[in-house]
Amino acid sequence: MAWHLEVEVREWSIGVTTTATPTASETTSAAAAQIRTALDELSLEEKVRLLTGASTWSLHAIQRIGLDPVTVSDGPIGVRGTSDDGGPSVQLPAPSGTAATWDVDLLARLGTLIAGEARRKGVDVVLAPVVNLQRTPAGGRHFECLAEDPHLTAELAASFVSALQASGVGASVKHFVGNEQETERTSYVSRIDERTLREVYLAPFEALVEAGVWSVMAAYNGVSLGGVEQTATAHGPLLNDLLKGEWGFDGVVVSDWLATKDTVSSATGGLDLVMPGPGGPWDDALVAAVERGDVPEAVIDDKVARILRLAHRVGAFGSDPVEVATPEPDDETVRSLVREATARSIVVLGNDGLLPLAPGSLRKVALVGANAVEPFVQGGGSAFVQPPHVVSPLEGLRRALPGADITLVRGGITERRAPLLPASLVRTPRGAAGILVEFLDSADRVREERVMTDPGALWFPIDDPAVVRVRFTTAIALRGDGRHVVEVGPVGAHELAVDGATVSTSEHRVGSEVVLDSSYSDPATIETPVDVHGEGHLHVSLTVQVIDADAYGRFVRVHLRHRAPGASIDEELAQAEDAAAAADVAIVVVGTNPETESEGWDRPSLALPGRQDELVRRVLAANPRTVVVVNAGAPVILPWLDEVPAVLWWWLPGQEAGDALADALVGATEPSGRLPWTLPAAEADVPVPDGLPTDGYVDYAERLDVGHRGWDRLGRTPAREFGFGLGYAQWRYDALEVEASVDESAPALARVELTNTSGRDGREVVQIYLSADASDPVRPVRWLAGFAVVDVAAGTSATVEIPLRRRRFETWSTETGSWTLPAGEYTVHAGRSSRDLPLTATHVIP
Ligand code: BGC
Repeated sequence: MAWHLEVEVREWSIGVTTTATPTASETTSAAAAQIRTALDELSLEEKVRLLTGASTWSLHAIQRIGLDPVTVSDGPIGVRGTSDDGGPSVQLPAPSGTAATWDVDLLARLGTLIAGEARRKGVDVVLAPVVNLQRTPAGGRHFECLAEDPHLTAELAASFVSALQASGVGASVKHFVGNEQETERTSYVSRIDERTLREVYLAPFEALVEAGVWSVMAAYNGVSLGGVEQTATAHGPLLNDLLKGEWGFDGVVVSDWLATKDTVSSATGGLDLVMPGPGGPWDDALVAAVERGDVPEAVIDDKVARILRLAHRVGAFGSDPVEVATPEPDDETVRSLVREATARSIVVLGNDGLLPLAPGSLRKVALVGANAVEPFVQGGGSAFVQPPHVVSPLEGLRRALPGADITLVRGGITERRAPLLPASLVRTPRGAAGILVEFLDSADRVREERVMTDPGALWFPIDDPAVVRVRFTTAIALRGDGRHVVEVGPVGAHELAVDGATVSTSEHRVGSEVVLDSSYSDPATIETPVDVHGEGHLHVSLTVQVIDADAYGRFVRVHLRHRAPGASIDEELAQAEDAAAAADVAIVVVGTNPETESEGWDRPSLALPGRQDELVRRVLAANPRTVVVVNAGAPVILPWLDEVPAVLWWWLPGQEAGDALADALVGATEPSGRLPWTLPAAEADVPVPDGLPTDGYVDYAERLDVGHRGWDRLGRTPAREFGFGLGYAQWRYDALEVEASVDESAPALARVELTNTSGRDGREVVQIYLSADASDPVRPVRWLAGFAVVDVAAGTSATVEIPLRRRRFETWSTETGSWTLPAGEYTVHAGRSSRDLPLTATHVIP
């Protein structure tokens, strides 16, 4: 089939159809000619083969046409790489943290860093950023999204993607679209009205297509829109008509992993690439569908052209990769950028003058909290990376406060499950250090035997197809008097014997669903308590099924955990009080943990896990000079927030965690973060408390009122509003002028004058919001229209110019199916947050 032939793919109810016509730039370029030649040379089978991954992370190569494999891998806080032993990756703070900088230039620097990291790990396309919105604070991947606001999300993501791609590494922006929570994530249907979809949830994707993104990932969920209900991987109106037609997207639409459910509807619905592979619903079934005439070959050609174009862009097809610097993740240049970004992301939620700490004046410091002992540096799920190191708060504070005596106290555990079993405690039946692992066939014959010296989180890929079960045998040494608890967490069908007695059996076999719902990363455990006097042993024999997880491969998965006898939570709370009472200052680090924030599940509660609220109150009572640091990616309720003299939000802070925290505490770097979401005072106030599906549907009933707009509509008062962050300087907003601009894309320019009235140099995030008259009842009460980060020296003034883009004034008309610019008077508000807007001006759209 000739490549240039204009073939109508399908008539959709709205708008444009997709054709296999090359883009204008391509027809004149050598790449376009090469793509056309390749299409002429490839057989139908070869073309279709290119449309499904060759493996979990790579696409097929065809040497005959000069096509090298294109490798993809998860981001965006680092680059996961294509195998779990691929070495460490840089680990940035979680996206909600970097978003708190509101700094597009910083996001660009991080985009360049991640490009280098991708190249270093042999990755061509990074599966990031996530531009779904933080519609509900309970959403499991909240930490992985940037913000609750579409405009803030769009600006930050576009800057990151532009820098990444300028280095020749592709971005695959995800998850298109309506994927705002995790429960039933592979099956629910998001019901979003067209105006809301356009103005809110599609807005970041549209901005990224404008910025030239090379790939878009279609989500697991379905979308119900204007009478068309279809999975996101087969949604013709969204993929063909809107994304590729109206927006002119010329890149690759890739499925989320294992999201494609059907052959013909996804092929004609606009999906280009099924991942992972091999296998899945395309391959031979798609060849047959083309031969039957159910899928035109021109549709296949269009997909192949898109994949070849992507390969060309990343240097895998008729082009060379762009040269980029590839420093190791523990290189000084990398560390200082990550440290700067992390320190600047920190939000000052309260400060009565206790911060910044004066290093010379502190002799004794109490550092308290389970998250102070072990900070929670990244959320769970596909974005997880192995960092080269994690700087703990203790290390960071020791460097920043060299003269101080720092006491570290846990103050009670916060996780339900015991810690992973340490290697020092396990012996095989023959007395060697480790666990005996036997790979069994269907007749329970041992096909292979190994000794594993690293127990804890066990994960083995199984290459031998005859192996169907794996048996783990070990004796666990239980040292120390008191109650030990051993926890065994098998994934899937299993048989567990402890000291020769069967304690658990399950015939419930599992497959790829345990990857998709992330339950394999936090398996439920079977607990055995043992009372020990002197030294005891527990003999464990566990047989588990091999999980056949489709293109994720065959593997077994088990967690072994152990809790040694020790102080009770009550005793640890008392120790924390004592340490605080004896110190010049107490720093309490509270937060979430790997059981709380992860892909795969939503949060049932916004409370801090364990007895951390009590810990804060008791430490505060023991020492009024208490600083609380919140180590979480998504909102948690802080009932004591206004009782504590100083509170910092530290996010999920990544590899340089402790140094960045210390920089913020002593003011070596100003913690100039501003909340990219709303912090509720109470769970009952949250406008969209969970977003859980009802009968398989998630209704976006609040329409345009996402995040802070919902709080404004309902007139509720949060603990801290969207955009809030004190920093260490003080500000006076002096004047706001708005002038009409001749720039078609930005009809108004806001000019804000402000003064840093403090004695410290400071960094401010100037925010502009708009409101219109109430003639359009659906329009938000107020919406973010622009922002800028500005550094102002102590006691001086600055003027900031912020262009207000046309799209910020426009609304989507469902009657005309187009954007309209409603005429009339708009109020322009300038200030420090969505609720602290001291200056107003008017602007008339004629
Ligand atoms: C996630 C994606 C991710 C993919 C590959 C999916 O389960 O939803 O965000 O890119 O896995 O790891």
